[in-house]
Amino acid sequence: MTTAVCPGSFDPVTLGHLDVIGRAAALVDELVVAVGRNSGKRSLFAVAERVEMLVEVCAPFANVTVEEFDGLLVEFCTARAATLICKGLRGASDTDYEVQMAQLNRRLSGVDTIFVPTAPELSFVSSTRVRELAAYGADLSDLVPASVAVRVHARVQASG
Ligand code: PNS
Repeated sequence: MTTAVCPGSFDPVTLGHLDVIGRAAALVDELVVAVGRNSGKRSLFAVAERVEMLVEVCAPFANVTVEEFDGLLVEFCTARAATLICKGLRGASDTDYEVQMAQLNRRLSGVDTIFVPTAPELSFVSSTRVRELAAYGADLSDLVPASVAVRVHARVQASG
């Protein structure tokens, strides 16, 4: 049985993430979506809230579970007996960083990474752009699931 981990900060989950999660789930027996903190990014949602949104939108995928993690990703993979990390790649701007992380994670633990190229029609979608557009009250329906858009607008209004 192959278990893979799909890690990210998912602040919030986008349609691009969801596309990658669905396609990765079709390649393995079990996929664990692992929600972590990226110390380099300011967050809009608490990790528990991001998990909540992911659980909701991943419900159609029978072999996907969602968990929070803290600490090293490779330690989480070992604890879940996951032998693969799965990440989406939007294009060249993601590649340097992601390949470096993949090489580091393999060196640390032997856990390898597979990359799923984002659907071209979603390659411009990022959580950062979603947060930025939301600050201007823009329509998010091409970027995130409807239930997530409602929560993003509510959070931005409440904090603005
Ligand atoms: O999608 P992101 O926001 O770039 O990913 C965030 C996350 C949490 C998946 C990433 O920062 C991560 O793996 N953090 C855990 C710490 C770790 O294992 N770092 C790699 C070795 S320095």
